[in-house]
Amino acid sequence: MKNILVTGGAGFIGGNFIHYLMKNRQDCRIVCLDALTYAGNLETLAPVLGDSRLRFVHGDITDREAVYRLFEEEHFDAVVNFAAESHVDRSIDTPEIFLKTNILGTQVLLDACNKFGTGRYHQVSTDEVYGDLPLDRPELFFTEETPLHTSSPYSASKASADLLVMAYHRTYGTPVTISRCSNNYGPYHFPEKLIPLMILNALEERPLPVYGDGKNVRDWLYVEDHCHAIALILEKGRVGEVYNIGGHNERQNIEVVRTILKALGKSEDLIAFVKDRPGHDRRYAIDPAKIHRELGWLPQTGFDEGIQKTIDWYLNNRSWWEHVRSGDYQKYYQKMYGNR
Ligand code: NAD
Ligand code: TYD
Repeated sequence: MKNILVTGGAGFIGGNFIHYLMKNRQDCRIVCLDALTYAGNLETLAPVLGDSRLRFVHGDITDREAVYRLFEEEHFDAVVNFAAESHVDRSIDTPEIFLKTNILGTQVLLDACNKFGTGRYHQVSTDEVYGDLPLDRPELFFTEETPLHTSSPYSASKASADLLVMAYHRTYGTPVTISRCSNNYGPYHFPEKLIPLMILNALEERPLPVYGDGKNVRDWLYVEDHCHAIALILEKGRVGEVYNIGGHNERQNIEVVRTILKALGKSEDLIAFVKDRPGHDRRYAIDPAKIHRELGWLPQTGFDEGIQKTIDWYLNNRSWWEHVRSGDYQKYYQKMYGNR
C-alpha cells in the first residue's frame, strides 16, 4: 500500500484530490497535513474522515520540526504539495504570508524529502507563473518552455517555489515533478474566487462584482480533471519534468458570470462592474500537448457540463457554504478533534 502525504488537503483542490484518490486508488493510504487557515475546511473531508485509509494532521508546512517528525514517523512514498496561500487579491494586500507558506513551506518539504527519503515530490503549481497573454493573439498558448514572467505576489511566490523545486532536483537529485494548471472550478471551492462567489451572490441576489471591463480570459478546468492529471503524473510522469494541465476552455469573465446568472434564472442587472485588480492578468491559456502525448491525459468535462455540475453542487450542499459564510466551519476541527 502506498503512503502519500497530501498537504493542503482541507482546501479546494487538495480536498478534491483526496476524494479522488480514495475513490479511484484503493491501494493508497493518505496523510493530510493542513494548517486549517481561513481557506482550510475540514467539512470538505467530512465524508472520508472516518475512513481508516486517511489520517488528518493539523500542522503547518513551514514548521520544520513538526514536518520532520511526521516524515520520520510515516516514511512517505510520495508527497503532493497543494498547501499554499492561493488568492491573488489577498496577495496584493498582504504578500508576506504568501512568501512564507508558498516558498519557505516548499523548502521545508523538499528538505524533509531529502533527509528522510521519498519516491516522489510533486509540486502543484499554476499557469500564473507564465504571466499573461495578450487578448488579441488567440494563437498564443503557454507551453512548458514559456519563460516565467509573473505579475502578482501570488504568482511570484509560486514561480519562486517552482525554481526551488527544480534546483533541488538538479543539486540534490530530489525526485520531483511539477504541474502547472489553469483555473479550476467545481465542488468545495472557497467563495472568494470568481465562480463560487458569483454563484452564491446570484443565489442571494447580491451584486456580482466584475473587475474592470470583464473581458479578462481564464482557461477553466473542472477540478476532477486536474486530480486525474496529478494522479497520472505521480504514477507515470518523468522525474524532473514540468507538465502543463488545461483543457482549452477559455472564457471571458463576463461570459462566465452571464452563464451563471442564466442557469440560476437571475437578472443581469445584478452585474456590478467594479474597479480593476492592480496588475490584472489579461489572458491565461494552456497548451496541454505534453501531458496528452506522454501520459494520455485528456479532460473529461467541458465547461458547459462542468459549470452546471458545479452550480448543482452548490444548490445541493447549502450547509457547506452556509457554514463558510457564517464562519461555523472553523469550529469543525474543535468538534471533531477537540477531545482526541
Ligand atoms: P485553497 O486556498 O483552497 O487551499 C489551500 C489549503 O492549504 C487550505 O486547506 C489551507 O488551510 C492550506 N494551507 C495554507 N497554508 C498552509 C500552511 N502553511 N501549512 C499547511 N497548510 C496550509 O487553494 P486551492 O485553490 O485548493 O489550491 C491548491 C494548490 O493548487 C495551490 O498550491 C495553488 O497555487 C494551486 N493551483 C490552484 C488553482 C486554482 O484554480 N484554484 C489553479 C492552479 C494551481
Ligand atoms: P480568481 O477566481 O481570483 O482567479 P485568478 O485571479 O487566480 O485567475 O479570478 C478569476 C478572474 O475573475 C480574474 O480575472 C479576476 C476576476 N474576478 C472578478 O472579476 N470579480 C471577482 O470578484 C473575483 C474574485 C475575480
